[in-house]
Amino acid sequence: MPSIRFMPMDIVVTSETGASILETALAHDIDLEHACGGFCACTTCHVVVAEGVDSLTEMDFDEEDKLDEVEGVTLRSRLGCQARLGTEDIVVNVPPKPY
Ligand code: FES
Repeated sequence: MPSIRFMPMDIVVTSETGASILETALAHDIDLEHACGGFCACTTCHVVVAEGVDSLTEMDFDEEDKLDEVEGVTLRSRLGCQARLGTEDIVVNVPPKPY
């Protein structure tokens, strides 16, 4: 089972292939914002994948479009509700929110 290390909290949790980063966070009481409820309609679940980005599901157009709205977006940015786990462990940074 793949794991996710959430930074800067430094919390490691195991999940399942096919689960989203957001679903995994919420299942373990990790505070990852999700204003739209996981429907790719906001950007509050933005994370930066420090390790394992290639093991995640590919980004679709809607996610890419939403990420364009994120201040400080990087090449390793993903929306936590859209990126689903493969079989490898990943590390994600949860950026501080500007509010
Ligand atoms: S929770 Fe709104 S885009 Fe992910």
